[in-house]
Amino acid sequence: MQLPRYIAHRGLSKHAPENTLAAIQAAADAGCEWVELDVQCLGDGTAVIWHDESVDRCSDGQGTLIDMTRDQIRHLDVGSWFSPDFRGERMALLDEALSLISALELGVNLELKINPGHDPVELANTAVHRARQVLPLDRLLVSSFDMNALESARAQDEKLALGLLYEAIPRRWASDAQRLRPVSVHADWTQLDQERLIEIQSAELALLCYTVNDPERFASWWDHGVSGVITDDPALFDSRYQRRTR
Ligand code: G3P
Ligand code: MG
Repeated sequence: MQLPRYIAHRGLSKHAPENTLAAIQAAADAGCEWVELDVQCLGDGTAVIWHDESVDRCSDGQGTLIDMTRDQIRHLDVGSWFSPDFRGERMALLDEALSLISALELGVNLELKINPGHDPVELANTAVHRARQVLPLDRLLVSSFDMNALESARAQDEKLALGLLYEAIPRRWASDAQRLRPVSVHADWTQLDQERLIEIQSAELALLCYTVNDPERFASWWDHGVSGVITDDPALFDSRYQRRTR
């Protein structure tokens, strides 16, 4: 699998409300080839694209996802907090996001987001199953901080591309890799460790860093073998990714 150099974090979240269909569309409009999206399940099992445990920060409502149903989240406005231009934006169902990604011929790094109280196996089974039905395997990269979620994803398909997601890369990364057979390791760039980086390179795995919005400070890491960045705005790195706003 050819992993991208730039992945738009939560869609083009610099210019549109994160993890929405608008942010996916904005990424495509800007010329991005890949987006990263967080997926989790509501209390009724519906898979939605959302980062936080609750809807408080990024909507006009309140409450935790685990206590909500599909009918309840559909009433939320998830765009106005970002800008009045996005008023009326609805929380994206996973199925809607996958359809749009497919139509736009994007790749997606689907992050299985396990917030407190959520079941990693349920999420992996639901989300990976749907993603594999809609997208070709070369445009799907599944990552998670939760190794149990990745194990369930791996059990579904030996060919599925997996990314081990960490903050600081722990010593145990190699045993996780042996168990899960990933194509990549994803790490918080502010906590990179040169020793781990060399180990990952030696294992011939890609290293993707998040969330990189400071190209100057990041620059030297490219020379150390980082293969890609997850960024709120790929235009910070390459002017080909034209910024467009509504
Ligand atoms: O997948 C990389 C990055 O998205 C992980 O952190 O909190 O932005 O989901 P977060
Ligand atoms: Mg994420």
